[in-house]
Parts: sequence; structure tokens; C-alpha cells
Amino acid sequence: MPDNRIRVLCVFGTRPDAIKMAPVVLELQRRPETFAVRVVVTGQHREQLAQVLSVFNLKPDHDLAIMQHGQTLAEITTRSLTGLDADLKEYPADVCLAQGDTTTTFVAALAAFYHKVPFGHIEAGLRTGNPYDPFPEEMNRRLAGVLTTWHFAPTEPSRQNLLAEGVASTSIYVTGNTSIDALKTVASRPYTFDDTTLHALMESDKRLILVTAHRRENWGAPMSNIGHALRTLAEEFADCEIVVALHKNPIVRETLCPLLEGRPRLHLIEPPDYVPFVKLMQRAHLILTDSGRVQEEAPSLGVPILVLRRTTERPEGVTAGTAKLIGTELEDILREARTLLTVPSAYAQMAHTVNPYGEGGAAPLIADVLSRLR
Ligand code: UD1
Repeated sequence: MPDNRIRVLCVFGTRPDAIKMAPVVLELQRRPETFAVRVVVTGQHREQLAQVLSVFNLKPDHDLAIMQHGQTLAEITTRSLTGLDADLKEYPADVCLAQGDTTTTFVAALAAFYHKVPFGHIEAGLRTGNPYDPFPEEMNRRLAGVLTTWHFAPTEPSRQNLLAEGVASTSIYVTGNTSIDALKTVASRPYTFDDTTLHALMESDKRLILVTAHRRENWGAPMSNIGHALRTLAEEFADCEIVVALHKNPIVRETLCPLLEGRPRLHLIEPPDYVPFVKLMQRAHLILTDSGRVQEEAPSLGVPILVLRRTTERPEGVTAGTAKLIGTELEDILREARTLLTVPSAYAQMAHTVNPYGEGGAAPLIADVLSRLR
């Protein structure tokens, strides 16, 4: 019997990509009569990727294992491209799928193009309009979009961005964001922190401020501003505990650690695995972040977010009022955080639960679209 299933190559490489691709891979695997799924990870991230794979019980068919400490963008690009090129040569595919704006994603689209394999872009159409912000993600996403056959846009505004660039409406599908599918899978899982400090914080009645920052455009002075702001907030608010989930990137640590280590009410922690991170978000009173994924997840959990960036490709949370774009100037961070920590009405206004990124169900919609290929 000839195998006439649709051969889908799913590619990811960083932690956020793995989280958002996981629901799609699992959904395709749930339809084995329709899809033959191959999972290739570039390994742009190593430890951070491994833990997400285990949370979702995903086993890659091939790990290109490209991560090196201090890797440059060109190195990520060339090593991933060479690896994916060889994989596609050996295992031809009918469809290639990747999500978002990382270098792995752009390279997956390019490798697929070289093999004339149609590309499905998950989380398509997000734009800041500034090619250097976020860098290189804005351009990664645009470049992937040019090479895309199916644009899976999470929201109506992202669909509008694609239409404005001349993308045919028939190739765009508004699906919601797959991060909500992933969040739903784990939000209700029980979890107990082994770490005694975190365990105590989860149980305490202090207000918890959760912080993440890693973006290239925030390296240097902006990251230093963030560190100084956190120091001041920890000194001013004795009823708050600040948890900083440090990114693995050594450049981020070089700035933040000397400023924050050993200070009262400031806790620098290794990047938590996905489930404990979701638990920390659920427990948080306020989140300060430059992460895209956190901007999508926090509104579902009713936690206000101050976004440590000048631009965002995710305006939906800002429009809905659960996120505020505050940049990285010291005074701006302090002013906005102080307001939320001292003015109950300002806090209440941001804390209402709206979910501009959908209610979940993006992954089955994507699988439905692809199943029509047969
Ligand atoms: C990458 C993505 C960014 C995404 C972020 C999420 C690009 C260009 N950047 O940025 O869009 O928001 O992931 O985290 O695609 N490292 C480890 N272990 C790990 C992961 C990283 O040691 O598991 C260290 C390595 O020294 C590595 C460095 O972090 O060289 C940077 O990783 P890289 O993927 O190049 O950039 P990110 O800043 O993580």
C-alpha cells in the first residue's frame, strides 16, 4: 500500500518556539491516518529546549545540536540552514511548519523554499514596523512571511498587517495563538517547588513581582536601567518580593547579576522550566518583561504586565489594557511600577482578565487547514 499521508516537517529550536509548536505537533500526531510528522530541532537552545520537550513528551527525530555559547546570528543561520538542507534532502516533505520570529524559523522557511516545499508560518503577521526592533526578530518574521504559503495569523490585527503588505486573503487563516493551547495544557497541572526560597515565596502573602529580560536591543544601558529600577523597587516596597528569571545568555547575566545579587527581596533564579514558570506567572501580582510569549500568556491569567520595550509586535494586550509599553528608561520603569503598586484603581483596571490571543484551539484549526491538502 502506498503511504499517501501528508509528510509534515515541524522545525523549532528555541524554548518559546518549542512551547508554541508543541500543541501543533501533538495535534498532527493525533491524526496518524492523515499526517506523517517529522520533528527536527535546530537546537538553537540546548537546556531550555530539552525541558520543554520533556514537558510535552516530544521526541525529535533529528537534533541538529547547533548551539554554541556566544553564537552569532550568522552562525545560527548557516549551521541551521546546512542541517535542515541535509535533512530535507534525506526526508522529503510535503509541508514545512515553523512558528514565530526566531532565526531558526526564518531558516526553516528558507530551507523549505530551496527544496520547493510549501511553508506554513504559525504566528504570522505580527509587526512593529521597525526592522531593527526587535532585532533580528522583526526581519526574521517578515522574511519568513515572504516564503510562506499558509499564514496562520493569531489575531485579526495580524491578518490586517499581512493584507496591508499585499498577502492574498485566501492564504491567511486567523487561528488564535498556539501559546494559549500550550498554557491550557499545563495551567492546571499541580506543581511543588523543590527550591525552598521559591516554595516559601509561593506560599507567602507578599506581592510577587516577576521579571524577565533578554532581548538584544535591551543589552547594555537598557538592561542596566532595568537592574537599577529593580533595586530601587525592592528597597521601596517591603511588601513585595521580586523574582528575576535570568536568561541563559551570559550577556544578560553580566549586567544584571552584579546589580542585583545578594540584595534583600530580590531573587535571581535560573530560568524555570515551563510549568514552574507558568505557576510563577499565576502567582505574580505584576510582571515586568520584554518577552513576547509572556505578553500573550499574562492576559489569560489576569496579571498586569509592564513591557520593557519601546515597540511591540503584540499590540493586542496594550489595546485590551492588560499590558503597558513602558520602554527601558529608569524613571519610566519606576513611575509605572510605583503607580501599579500604590494606586489600587490603576491596578484593578489592568488586572481584568481579557484574552486577545484567543481561547485556545489554534492547533486543531491549523491541522484542519493542512488536512485539506490530501
Ligand atoms: C533567542 C531568539 C529570540 C527569543 C529567545 C527566547 C533569535 C535570534 N533569538 O534569543 O528571538 O526571544 O531565543 O529565549 O532567534 N544559552 C544556553 N542554553 C540555552 C539557551 C541559550 O546556554 O538553553 C546561551 C548560549 O550561550 C547562547 C546564548 O544563550 O549562545 C544565546 O542564545 P541565542 O539563541 O543565540 O539567543 P537568545 O538571546 O536566546
